[in-house]
Amino acid sequence: MSQAEEAPPVALAKLLFGSLVTQMIATAMQLDVPERLKNGPLSAEAIAAAAGSHPDATYRLLRALGSLGVLVEGPDRTFSLSPMGRLLVADEPGTLAGLARLTAEPWHHASLGQMVHSVRTGESGFYKVHGEHLFTWLSGRPRESSVFADAMTSFSNAEASMILRAYDFSAAECIVDVGGGNGLLLAHLLEANERARGVLLELPSVVEGARRLLTEHGVDRRIEIVPGDFFRAVPEGGDIYILKHVLHDWRDERAFTIVENVARAMPRGGRLLVIEQVLAPPGVSHFSKVLDVGVMVLTDGGRERTEREHAALLERAGLELSRVVPLAGPITILE
Ligand SMILES: C[S@@+](CC[C@H](N)C(=O)[O-])C[C@H]1O[C@@H](n2cnc3c(N)ncnc32)[C@H](O)[C@@H]1O
Repeated sequence: MSQAEEAPPVALAKLLFGSLVTQMIATAMQLDVPERLKNGPLSAEAIAAAAGSHPDATYRLLRALGSLGVLVEGPDRTFSLSPMGRLLVADEPGTLAGLARLTAEPWHHASLGQMVHSVRTGESGFYKVHGEHLFTWLSGRPRESSVFADAMTSFSNAEASMILRAYDFSAAECIVDVGGGNGLLLAHLLEANERARGVLLELPSVVEGARRLLTEHGVDRRIEIVPGDFFRAVPEGGDIYILKHVLHDWRDERAFTIVENVARAMPRGGRLLVIEQVLAPPGVSHFSKVLDVGVMVLTDGGRERTEREHAALLERAGLELSRVVPLAGPITILE
């Protein structure tokens, strides 16, 4: 029996302990363990002293993370980062630290705890807990909004190089990223194409973080940040528009309004790239089916879609789906 075909009780037990493992990584983030280990190994006692945590309990957490391959346990209760653990350091290339920090947020797991409500009713678990929809709630909370935007930047970290390899942006003059988060994808695209300029449309609550990131990347002068609302209007004048992980946050009618606003803003010959985890056919294992349940619980009617469902949304707005480029991520570019 190969590892991929574990005995059913073993495989099921691993799935059942998934939230314990998530919480262990989240706790390590809350104690800044990856940052403390980034320059070399430390003992559990040294980490506990620096973090102000209980030495033996800290050792037990680190030992468990070592057993899972996130850390490497050395002699005398010392620990270092494994290649996987290194991705929890904030300034590491390809970092997923932002995503790990989001999983540590009580408002995030309290919402996921309402999954049974979502499945019974088809309604948002986030709304049940917070009495507001996700983006409205985030808009009034700078700290939580920044944690969420950093988590999205983590996704972009992992995806940007794949997108650049798979799609030729060299002829682009103006790229508009609609709901582009902190702007990491746009920063990468402009770093690769020195002639292009960019426009980032985002909610006002995200603009400050975006300005910081674009300045760090040295592309702030070539990118106009437009605080706004994609349900009202999208900036005109781009030759490429991007909607990455945006449509999946919204029910069909709302998603259609966003696409329609992009279609209205686009010049003749302009192109729209929808980048999403496209749902795989029935019976095929694909992460899109897991993410779909995540957006079902967290957003107001959001869902992952099949290629055909995306094509229908685009066609309704007068756009034609001309090319589909699947990437490893497991994301797909729909042009
Ligand atoms: C799931 S995130 C994706 C972010 C980014 N495109 C990425 O792939 O990392 C959705 C984004 O849409 C933005 N957003 C939500 N409602 C918006 C609105 N009405 N107008 C503009 N942006 C909005 C959010 O702030 C968030 O950054």
